[in-house]
Amino acid sequence: MIKRMKGTYDITDDIGYYQTIEKHIQKISKLFGYQEIRTPHFESRDLFHRSVGADSDIISKETYDFKDRGNRMNTLRPEGTAGVVRALIENKLYAQPTVPQKLYYYGSMFRYERPQKGRFREFRQFGAEAFGSAHPSLDAEVIAYAFTVLRALKIKDVNVHLNTLGDGQSQTAYKDALKAHFKPHITTLCQDCQTRYETNPLRILDCKVDQGHAAMKTAPKTTEHLTSEAQKHFEDVQAYLDAMNIPYTVDHNLVRGLDYYTHTVFEVKVSEQLLGAQNAICGGGRYNDLVASLDGPVTPAVGFAFGVERLVVALKANNTPVEAPYLHAYFIILGAKPRLKAMALLQRLRLGGLMCDMDYMEKAIKGQFKQTEHKQARFVMVLGDEEVDNETIEVKDQKLNDRFSVSFNDLYITLVDKLTTSTTDCHDCDHKGEK
Ligand code: HAM
Repeated sequence: MIKRMKGTYDITDDIGYYQTIEKHIQKISKLFGYQEIRTPHFESRDLFHRSVGADSDIISKETYDFKDRGNRMNTLRPEGTAGVVRALIENKLYAQPTVPQKLYYYGSMFRYERPQKGRFREFRQFGAEAFGSAHPSLDAEVIAYAFTVLRALKIKDVNVHLNTLGDGQSQTAYKDALKAHFKPHITTLCQDCQTRYETNPLRILDCKVDQGHAAMKTAPKTTEHLTSEAQKHFEDVQAYLDAMNIPYTVDHNLVRGLDYYTHTVFEVKVSEQLLGAQNAICGGGRYNDLVASLDGPVTPAVGFAFGVERLVVALKANNTPVEAPYLHAYFIILGAKPRLKAMALLQRLRLGGLMCDMDYMEKAIKGQFKQTEHKQARFVMVLGDEEVDNETIEVKDQKLNDRFSVSFNDLYITLVDKLTTSTTDCHDCDHKGEK
């Protein structure tokens, strides 16, 4: 038997959680004025090298790279920001009259990581990117957007960790300070960190191997090397978050694992009890230089991405109700002539917006009744020769424990009438009473 690849999974019983998340994402994104964008699952390898950073763990160890038959080097996207920036530049979205350009996306990302709880090789991200404004209020809005998604999903006990990497000048000063700090320890750092020392000393701080190294704890902080503009930007972001009542913790150790950030960086974490070491459900920040570095016009930007699988774990832990199976009507079929009639009736009801089904297994009547329970049908009808001859059917209302007879002609209008005059649990349907 061919099995699924390591680090991938099939969504079966959990589909209701994903659908609930997707619904809320669409709703909240509209509230914040973000439009959906869909970009390819693979891009040129260069795009990720030049954005996420060739020395980052993601690019140096985790990408799925392949040469196509035309000898081009492709990479399955390990994250969404780079593709959205490429699309912004290629489609000249930056020139559109609505500014800032606010975009969101949802889809699979691929990283060759060691699979564990909350960490997969194919996983889904819901992300958002806002382009065109360097104002700190936009950083705060993006964090509020992420926070509101969590509120809508009723995910509690979350902590927003906030830091700043400052502007280019601050980062140069900070990298110099890091080099001076790590210089006496260089030979005791792992091989990768010895390379990072030369290429990007900031990456030493999120090394998984050297995490416990004594020199890590005493390393200088980003905030000690900020220019006054960068300091002001960070203070303003906090003031806007305070004004919106968004709780956060300033975390000087947060540097993020991607190279494109400037100024604000943040992660939303849930408790380690829930997700172990993989407890960041969302990460993001400002990246003012990325668009220009990929040959676009100077365009400041800020965004985030959620790990959807991690959201699902949090939803389950919260016992958040998700949509259960439900049908408006189910036909139990007794014979060939009734089956023909049932097909005609079903099509009429479905065209009118009712969710309905019938037996296709030629099961005995008891087995068919069992199906009505599994499928959670509100109205159950038995269709035999007699009903077909009389053009009338008896309907059992499972919810109100009631029975009534109705002609085939009046069936649709009668069911709709019953649905709109009764209130029940939330289901997806156009018949507003049946909400
Ligand atoms: P990231 O922190 O690499 O940021 O990923 C964002 C989120 O994706 C993480 O917080 C985590 O929840 C989820 N995630 C990452 N790797 C895995 C994995 N192997 N399995 C399951 N979930 C995972 C980015 O990707 C940036 N593009 C975010 C961003 C957007 N920054 C600005 N705009």
